[in-house]
Amino acid sequence: MSVWVVLAAAGRGERLGDDRPKAFARLGDLPLVAEPLRRLDDSDWIDGIVVAAPPGWEEPCIVLAEEIGAGKVSTVVTGGKTRAASVRAALASVPEDAAVVVVHDAARPLVSDDVLGRVLAPLSEGYDGAVPVLPVSDTVKRVRGTEIVETVEREGLVVSQTPQAFLAGSLRRAAAGESTDCSALVEQQGGRIKAVEGDPRLLKITLPEDLELVSAWL
Ligand code: CTP
Ligand code: MG
Repeated sequence: MSVWVVLAAAGRGERLGDDRPKAFARLGDLPLVAEPLRRLDDSDWIDGIVVAAPPGWEEPCIVLAEEIGAGKVSTVVTGGKTRAASVRAALASVPEDAAVVVVHDAARPLVSDDVLGRVLAPLSEGYDGAVPVLPVSDTVKRVRGTEIVETVEREGLVVSQTPQAFLAGSLRRAAAGESTDCSALVEQQGGRIKAVEGDPRLLKITLPEDLELVSAWL
């Protein structure tokens, strides 16, 4: 069973507000994307990697992969306007015979072998996909502007992370849709998705303080 990764690294990182795309913001001594690339490349679960890079950053991404010895990187494609478009572009370069595709946000640098194992296991148990989730600890409310219009029942609510693993066919059939979450697209196509234990260290770097937190965890 060959397992390929689509690494979504093409975002602009507007909320981080750095002078370069988020994937190339400094984390430790290297651009951020080096951390997930190295971890995915080192994982025995993974056979190949396709990276979606920000437009104009394809070459730096290839050079970086070479520098860190990430030999499983087969292709760096130009990302699209949305995350879904970037995933589609990368998916087109995943070999036809790949059985499983793992989609991961470069903005979650601390991907581990443990979580990869957890999302891959359900694919041999009849699931189309698996998503790492964390419980919601705060009370969740719906607001309209600054007015609270609803308090959402917390029971049964979780937050979704990446890496998300899918049977390649299920993801390819769903990939035409638009969502910030690949699982949502496979769910809409009727796919069965298993929720597995997430990891607080898979925090998505969104704001500058997230970058500081993740740096401290390196
Ligand atoms: N992403 C992508 N292509 C896009 C938009 C996002 O590959 N057109 C990727 C990002 O690189 C990131 C992941 O999807 O790894 C999650 O997106 P997000 O955290 O929103 O990153 P950005 O879009 O870069 O940040 P912002 O929304 O603040 O601009
Ligand atoms: Mg974004």
